[in-house]
Amino acid sequence: MLLYERMSRKFLIAANWKMNIPPVEAFTDASPFRSIAGADVWVFPSFLDLHSAREHGLIVGAQYGRADAKGSFTGDVSMQMLADQHYHAVLCGHSERRKNHGETDAMVLVQATAAISAGLIPIVCVGETESERTTGRQEEVVKRQLSGLPQDVILAYEPVWAIGTGKSTTPEDAQHMHAFIRSILPKKETVILYGGSMNGKNCENLLSQPDIDGGLIGAASLKPDDFRIIVETAARLSGK
Ligand code: PGA
Repeated sequence: MLLYERMSRKFLIAANWKMNIPPVEAFTDASPFRSIAGADVWVFPSFLDLHSAREHGLIVGAQYGRADAKGSFTGDVSMQMLADQHYHAVLCGHSERRKNHGETDAMVLVQATAAISAGLIPIVCVGETESERTTGRQEEVVKRQLSGLPQDVILAYEPVWAIGTGKSTTPEDAQHMHAFIRSILPKKETVILYGGSMNGKNCENLLSQPDIDGGLIGAASLKPDDFRIIVETAARLSGK
């Protein structure tokens, strides 16, 4: 079984390229998408670009995998197929999948469990919507999303209102939510990434928070210079 656990101040920076062509710089020798001392870097391209990302030496995961191993599921790719091709990790329950594909907490749980059984590391995304936040329900929502999840997952706390909006949460708020999440997890070494408009400017304050173990980066991962700043900041904060 693949396991990825918290090591004191070593960061995981994950690029979620969503439905975009990877930046050309990703596949060069000077790619900012390679791990460096103190910062592991994983990329999540579309299914079409998984292979070439790996051929270029990047650590690669998929943005989605279906729990059923195979069968009549037109358009889907299974966790098992990803594992058979030796991919490393998979995103589960990203808020865009919850919204656009009706993925429920129960479906995300089944996916994460299937990912682990197949030999993939799931990064399970949780986070409240804007209206859940304004009505003070963020802890209740995240607790529900975490309920019943297998222990051996990586988590990404991604407040939905901060994703792709340029409106990152404050570092103190993010730290509060990460500490809350850690307090209710059975396994305290769980890696908890922050996602939601992390960029070269705000990454230092976010990554300096004691319970933030890295980032899941969307928009800024399509801007190699910005992404490089995040990776280098993580490496510096790690003390290497
Ligand atoms: P963002 O996306 O960095 O563009 O907010 C993060 C994500 O969706 O994982």
